[in-house]
Amino acid sequence: MAAVEELEARYIMNTYNRQEDRTLVLVKGAGSRVWDNKGKDYLDFVGGLAVNILGHCHPDVVAAICFQAGELIHASNLYYTRPQAELARVLVEHSAGDRVFFANSGAEVNEAAIKLARKFHYPRRYKIITARRSFHGRTLATVAATGQQKYQQGFAPLPDGFSYARFNDLASFEELVDGETAAIMIEPVQGEGGIHVAAPDFIRGLRELCDRTGLLLIFDEVQCGLGRTGRLWAYENWGAAPDIFTTAKGLGGGLPIGAMLARSGVAEVFKPGDHASTFGGNPVACRAALAVLELLLKDSFLEQVRNKGSLFMAGLRRQVTLFPGLVREARGLGLMAALELREPLAGAAQQRCQERGLLVNAIGDNILRFLPPLIALEEELEQALAILEQVLSGLLEQT
Ligand SMILES: Cc1ncc(COP(=O)(O)O)c(C=O)c1O
Repeated sequence: MAAVEELEARYIMNTYNRQEDRTLVLVKGAGSRVWDNKGKDYLDFVGGLAVNILGHCHPDVVAAICFQAGELIHASNLYYTRPQAELARVLVEHSAGDRVFFANSGAEVNEAAIKLARKFHYPRRYKIITARRSFHGRTLATVAATGQQKYQQGFAPLPDGFSYARFNDLASFEELVDGETAAIMIEPVQGEGGIHVAAPDFIRGLRELCDRTGLLLIFDEVQCGLGRTGRLWAYENWGAAPDIFTTAKGLGGGLPIGAMLARSGVAEVFKPGDHASTFGGNPVACRAALAVLELLLKDSFLEQVRNKGSLFMAGLRRQVTLFPGLVREARGLGLMAALELREPLAGAAQQRCQERGLLVNAIGDNILRFLPPLIALEEELEQALAILEQVLSGLLEQT
């Protein structure tokens, strides 16, 4: 039988830069751990890039998927299905949204949010201001919304109407507003851009600006939502509610599903035929999402995430104190965190952590991102911090 690496090299488009010497073949997961095909286990602080919020193969999610797979795997949106309706109810009851549109990924729900904002203001206003360093997806419209040139290179012409202001700089957003602006769209905590947390005044200021000028405020919570910051939705940390917000990644416990929610007065703008998705609201994905939300909403679950987040952030700050010449900053909120290094050593640090049994993610040359599962045990967080300390200490000796 050919090795997975050989099959990939021959048959899969080369979009993921899985460098041969670094690529793992993952075969199994349970809780905070994954195993490779050689039987080695790792603490997984990449977590499917913020997907595996309940760790791997959480028994409640597995049970929900197995149950629904035996009932009805798929039905067209020409018909009603109960898991979809139930999931919409739970999402609405626990958020600022009043109605839901389901799709299958972050990019798709952001695309839906962009379409909804444009239709709301059609035909006079169509422009959307987003933040520099943002990431909103890989479709043409969401790549245009993404405030990073590297994702746009080679795909011109992109959809018109997007401009980029400085994150955490209210005045720079205000400057870009004109009579054709329909919405402002931001991630309350920027993920792919390197874990940058919105300042309270900034996010409340955006809300006021939108209210004053009639713009819609869209929050992309694809990465920072669903308990990641210690609140069900990141925007709850600042008490500023969006008109539209999106969620995906962790929602389906590993299955592909995304949801775009909008408040009353905005949601109604979509009429039959305006938008659709064949797989959107698929019964199995919705049943898995119901299991995820049931757990997130249990008694003290989010409080525990906040406590674990404080513990982990304190551990990361300790690295700054221990290695000030190597580590510039620790930042994050809840269990969404990063270390910024002074030198372009993030790739080397990622590789060495992996060798010691910890999966973390390097963003660019200088940033290490940590997305532990929300169910991670305190001792697993401590263990990860100990590995990190060893790795940073080793790197320091070499610089
Ligand atoms: C904030 C944010 N929005 C959108 C996306 C795109 O999501 P997907 O890859 O599911 O299309 C991502 C993915 O990393 C993201 O972090």
